[in-house]
Amino acid sequence: MSEYILGIETSCDETAVAIVKNGKEIVANVVASQIESHKRFGGVVPEIASRHHVEQITMVLEEAFKETEMTIDDIDAVAVTEGPGLVGALLVGVNAAKALAFAHQKPLIGVHHIAGHIYANRLVKEFSFPLLALVVSGGHTELVLMKDHGDFEIIGGETRDDAAGEAYDKVARTLKLPYPGGPKIDQLAQEGNMVIDFPRAWLEEGSFDFSFSGLKSAVINTLHNAKQRGEEFRQEDIATSFQASVVDVLVEKTYLAAKHYQVKQVIVAGGVAANKGLRAAMEAKFKKSKPELLFPPISLCTDNAAMIAAAGSVAFKQGHRADWDLNANPGLSMEKYSQRMMSCD
Ligand code: KG4
Ligand code: ZN
Repeated sequence: MSEYILGIETSCDETAVAIVKNGKEIVANVVASQIESHKRFGGVVPEIASRHHVEQITMVLEEAFKETEMTIDDIDAVAVTEGPGLVGALLVGVNAAKALAFAHQKPLIGVHHIAGHIYANRLVKEFSFPLLALVVSGGHTELVLMKDHGDFEIIGGETRDDAAGEAYDKVARTLKLPYPGGPKIDQLAQEGNMVIDFPRAWLEEGSFDFSFSGLKSAVINTLHNAKQRGEEFRQEDIATSFQASVVDVLVEKTYLAAKHYQVKQVIVAGGVAANKGLRAAMEAKFKKSKPELLFPPISLCTDNAAMIAAAGSVAFKQGHRADWDLNANPGLSMEKYSQRMMSCD
């Protein structure tokens, strides 16, 4: 018997609904992006994001069902991002999911947003454990070790520092590029030359933690000092030099961690997984080594609901169900989520 999970994602600036079959196959996938509305503010404005989600959610839901011959009666469970994310934005998705699940008496499942990003890769290929996930999104840079479904152990992270995507967006703003800056820097980086050897933060030996704030400051200072001297760098060259520094650290730390934990697969997840430079460098580094390398297709790197349904499918199979008092959980940690997933209800 096939299992169909309806996924809902509204944690940031995309209103998304998807239907996924057996945790691995996309049946419908609709994403309404708000990027155009936030662009003029140079970043996501939480109030505006919430309002857009309220306006969009019903249409996006209808659109997802329209893409299929299915109705809500064919759905086995409703999975929704409960956190982390913007509280007002999360609330829209959580309440839509609760209303739908309650009205149609379907099981409700709360999903961790980063678990979703990781499970976007299961829409590409079945997982082989142990696996290592490099999570690179707007809010997180983490190496996550998984020994089983639902078992997420963070072996390295950005602690209180900027996440990789955040560093991209801040450097882009300094270069006066439009929001979100990541894709634009990626594009410029293909056209520039390495002109500056920006710092790489390796931190103490054996650490799998990341820190990009020093690099971000180095880029800002370099541009500022050049301006004071009346000189100017080409945007492309700054982009190439900055990207080389980010990619070097991400690839090297992932490689060392993959060897250390002898994993069978290395998967890359989150918005920055769309980065051409990162994809090429990871492919080159892991070409001759044993762990198999997985990337989601570009469309599943940034926020979407197919990944939430995919992660929700695993929770559903393991018997996890949310109560009707499920709430938005903006600070939901991976540790807490993992503990919940590994406990038998
Ligand atoms: O995973 P995501 O969609 O949202 C969060 O969960 O945070 O990631 C968004 C981030 C943004 O910072 C954006 O600039 C970055 O991913 N991003 C990229 C690329 N595409 C998106 N960064 C570098 N290169 C890209 N091609
Ligand atoms: Zn995300």
